[in-house]
Amino acid sequence: MALNHTTMIEPIEHAADILSKAKSAVALTGAGISVESGIPPFRGKGGLWEKIDPMKVAHIDAFLDDPATVWNVLIKDMKTVLDTARPNPGHAGLVDLERLGILKTVITQNVDGLHQMAGSSDVIEFHGSFAWQSCLDCNRSIETSQVDLAQIPPRCSCGGILRPDCIFFGEMIPRDALVRSQQVSAACDVMLVIGTSATVQPAATMPFIAKDSGAFIIEINPEPTPFTSRVSDLPLLGGAGSIMPRLLKAIRRRLPST
Ligand code: OAD
Repeated sequence: MALNHTTMIEPIEHAADILSKAKSAVALTGAGISVESGIPPFRGKGGLWEKIDPMKVAHIDAFLDDPATVWNVLIKDMKTVLDTARPNPGHAGLVDLERLGILKTVITQNVDGLHQMAGSSDVIEFHGSFAWQSCLDCNRSIETSQVDLAQIPPRCSCGGILRPDCIFFGEMIPRDALVRSQQVSAACDVMLVIGTSATVQPAATMPFIAKDSGAFIIEINPEPTPFTSRVSDLPLLGGAGSIMPRLLKAIRRRLPST
């Protein structure tokens, strides 16, 4: 049987062919894109949920019942890690794709702010943001970097307890983020799915929305995921920090004067 063109070329070259012709690509990212920035993922080897039970420490009821424990077991460590984390070549590759006029929007499940720090200009924070805290009593916002951990749980000047502006299990996805994500997923020509285990809904429906609307799905992940056999047209097996620079190099070779 003769091999057709797409099965013969190397996957990264195939992805570069597709992306160099794309005009409205969208990325859906998960914890995996930040692993090479030193932020542990939630699932799999070294995952946070292997060490702690999310229903006991990451559910809104757990937080409201015992905010001090959730701050001590989860939020304090997150703040320490995120305070110093910096973007890696995976985040930088998405910025380059935007500057080349290929990528329009990043939908991220991450709350670490690294896409914005890298320079992506249109980032939908699907699960909210860790950059800010809100007071449970007066709703005042305080930058997480300004929060004093001497007192746990930290408190607002009004005495109310602070909570991060990312969602806990049991809370709704911010409405604007959900609606816009559905819109951009339905409108994109290529979706790049990077570093997500495809297990958390409704984020995991976005590649299906994109595919149903005719988009080509490229997945970057060192491991196969439930997306790989069900929705991905082209899986690129590897870490985002090593795949993205190779992909950008292959795309630039195809574009005039870049
Ligand atoms: P997970 O921790 O579930 O999955 C991380 C994925 O990243 C896995 O599929 C890994 O194989 C992959 N991965 C690991 N290293 C990588 C690398 N260097 N490059 C690319 N991929 C890599 O993270 P999410 O799918 O983002 O929710 O999890 C979704 C949600 O579950 C999170 O947003 C969080 C969590 O509970 C909330 O906080 C509400």
